[in-house]
Amino acid sequence: MQQLRIGIMGCADIARRLVIPAIQTHQSLFSIVGIASRTFEKAKEFGDLFNITPYEGYETLLEPSLGVDIIYMPLPTGLHDEWITKCLQAGKHVYVEKSLALNAESAERLVSIARSKRLLLLENFMFRYHSQHQYVFNKIAKGELGEIRLFRSSFGFPPLKENNFRYDPQMGGGALLDAGAYTVSAARWFLGEDLKVATANLHINQHWQSDIYGDMTLVNSKGVTAQLSFGFDNFYQCNYEIWGSKAKIVAERSFTPKPNEQPTILFQHNTAGEVYHAAADNHFANILAEVYRSATARDFESHWNGVLNQSYLLTQIMNKSNKFYIA
Ligand SMILES: NC(=O)c1ccc[n+]([C@@H]2O[C@H](COP(=O)([O-])OP(=O)(O)OC[C@H]3O[C@@H](n4cnc5c(N)ncnc54)[C@H](OP(=O)(O)O)[C@@H]3O)[C@@H](O)[C@H]2O)c1
Repeated sequence: MQQLRIGIMGCADIARRLVIPAIQTHQSLFSIVGIASRTFEKAKEFGDLFNITPYEGYETLLEPSLGVDIIYMPLPTGLHDEWITKCLQAGKHVYVEKSLALNAESAERLVSIARSKRLLLLENFMFRYHSQHQYVFNKIAKGELGEIRLFRSSFGFPPLKENNFRYDPQMGGGALLDAGAYTVSAARWFLGEDLKVATANLHINQHWQSDIYGDMTLVNSKGVTAQLSFGFDNFYQCNYEIWGSKAKIVAERSFTPKPNEQPTILFQHNTAGEVYHAAADNHFANILAEVYRSATARDFESHWNGVLNQSYLLTQIMNKSNKFYIA
């Protein structure tokens, strides 16, 4: 099997904690060519942790002499348009952190470059690659939930440190593009790609000018709704619930189970219920296997469409939302 040569663009926390270790579990699929940072010192410090060659400047990874096939990009969303464009123009596949785009216009432009160059552009909604959700899809397929009446999901956490880029609108900050994006991706997954926005509310911090928490109701063409809520100033929640005509299912740790965690799923119906302890699984390692498969099989269409559908919906939510300004 031919290895893909991967470059890491930015010394991000998520790369250190979860993605680089997951790449290193796939020795036969990937060889890490280098890690680039705005400063050499940071790249070196990071590179030393994983035995990866450090580089100063993100553009260094694009030099033909390095022979990089694919870039993993854990940069803030506000930098994606510029750097994804440069990577694609240099002929590199791109596996990028969520949210991929600031808006639908940017997503369309980036997908059209990826399409014209026949390159992968994949947004890191790794939760879809955790085996726990197979239990849910099996229950739906076997009719045990009955007809789906409602999808509900919440993802939010307590305040971050004040200097976090997630508060900076220039960097693509805001809770919708961060935590809210997971709930939107999950709603698309379970209710389909024909969701439209019925109503949405964004609470915007006047100082930062970025949304701190919010909620929305989406509805598909059959009239089934998704109620989604998210936030940066909330009691921690990370779940979805599907309420059917016969039963209800709740995935308690739907988006961020750690590789050694066994997430719990509750299934309830009229006469009884069960608590399902899913097997521990590493969704980062699993999505990386898909990154490898789709890049080498040149099977890009579903990932391009995923980027577009996610971004169309997020842009609709931003445009249609009621804005409430908070001190
Ligand atoms: N899929 C997931 O489970 C998951 C989880 C957490 C985060 N994420 C996503 O991953 C990305 C990184 O998140 P993180 O929490 O890991 O953040 P982080 O530690 O702050 O990393 C962001 C990196 O971007 C680079 N950067 C360049 N310009 C920057 C600027 N003006 N401000 C801040 N950083 C800048 C920095 O790398 P250098 O200093 O090396 O240049 C920095 O280390 C975000 O898009 C986030 O949404 C995904």
